[in-house]
Amino acid sequence: MSNPSLLSLQLDHLDQLQQRYESALQTHGYDSLLIASGAAPYRYGDDQAWHFQGYGPFLHWTGLTGREHCWLWIRAGQNPVLWLFEPVDFWHANLALEQEPWQSFIEVRSQQTPEAPQLESAGRLAVVGDPWVLAGVGFGEHNPPGLLGALDETRVHKTRYEIECLAQANAIALDGHRSAREAFAGGQSEFGINLAYQRATGQREAEAPYHSIIGINEHAGTLHYQHYGTRRPARSRSLLIDAGVRYRGYCSDITRTTPGAGQDRFASLVHGMELLQRRLCEQVAPGVEYLEIHRKAHQGVAALLSASGLVTGLDDDTMVAEGITRAFFPHGIGHFLGIQVHDVAGKPTPPPADAPFLRLTRTLEPGMVVTIEPGLYFIPSLLDPLMSGAMKRHLNSSLIDELAGCGGIRIEDNVAVTDTGARNLTRESEV
Ligand code: GLY
Ligand code: MN
Ligand code: MN
Repeated sequence: MSNPSLLSLQLDHLDQLQQRYESALQTHGYDSLLIASGAAPYRYGDDQAWHFQGYGPFLHWTGLTGREHCWLWIRAGQNPVLWLFEPVDFWHANLALEQEPWQSFIEVRSQQTPEAPQLESAGRLAVVGDPWVLAGVGFGEHNPPGLLGALDETRVHKTRYEIECLAQANAIALDGHRSAREAFAGGQSEFGINLAYQRATGQREAEAPYHSIIGINEHAGTLHYQHYGTRRPARSRSLLIDAGVRYRGYCSDITRTTPGAGQDRFASLVHGMELLQRRLCEQVAPGVEYLEIHRKAHQGVAALLSASGLVTGLDDDTMVAEGITRAFFPHGIGHFLGIQVHDVAGKPTPPPADAPFLRLTRTLEPGMVVTIEPGLYFIPSLLDPLMSGAMKRHLNSSLIDELAGCGGIRIEDNVAVTDTGARNLTRESEV
């Protein structure tokens, strides 16, 4: 059961969503909107379905993950109606719905069949959701792009309820990160560390906002490393774990890098990255261009490369201009976070050529929640061309070879923009 103040904040959240949706519907000329929660498609040639979590706008209103074939109807001036799919089924169980105050705002009806409900007085109706689910819906305008863009925009400025949910998702994930570090210190395999994380967070893999990235040693250098080795490593030189949880639908997305015992050079690089990451988090404030934080991260990575002796004889600006920092730090500084881990509406304008993977190009405003996740990796496919190119003499190949066995570093926090600065939702729960 959630605490009473959170449940009361949820009522304010719904009130704000109602206003935002009414305005979006009016702007785009619709009287009402039907949102499909979605359903998991079956694997091709198989009778087993993929894991299911739920469509963003449905989760934005309800937070109810894992509920297939539900429908939510939004109308101007009227309370929303939620049809919950609750079939009589001796193969599967229906999820129980906890009685909570939000049900005074959203009327809940139970239905036995998965089809969209018949609506009376829907007026000009839009229906949004996964197209394969909407294929069976013979009425309304499906996924009109202008309206979809406006709905995405309703997710950019988080309500107080959403920020508290994101904070709680951070607190729970940090328990998992602590257990993961202990498992790593105990010499566990990636698989064992994953189990420790799941046990501490009480979350199944299928419920996680994304596949937890758990890389020991060289594996830490693959940005989204997706396999879990089951053997205990001969030497535990480093651990990179990037893992979150969902809380009432809201995601955390946290990365920590832990050096193994005796890895002093790598440990000092991790320490340098930790200081850089904290400085970058302090940059988060209203009016700041997120791209500028990305650019400052490159300056900071250049300084780390110099200080550690990985690169010699070049100033920071030259390292950035020559693409050296990009070879060590190839991804963006972060993204919006919310009901999806890479939340929507981050790129009304595409990123510039020097930041092709940046997922957020907006000016920061109060209510936005972003990740700050600088990294420094030893990725052979990116470093090999540098080591054989014009910059070769500036790269300390023996040190790179030595540290390549530790894979890489990423440190990632979740930060909410406030009216005057920022609230670091991750560090505030870290002890
Ligand atoms: N966990 C994926 C990311 O950090 O964006
Ligand atoms: Mn992450
Ligand atoms: Mn992230």
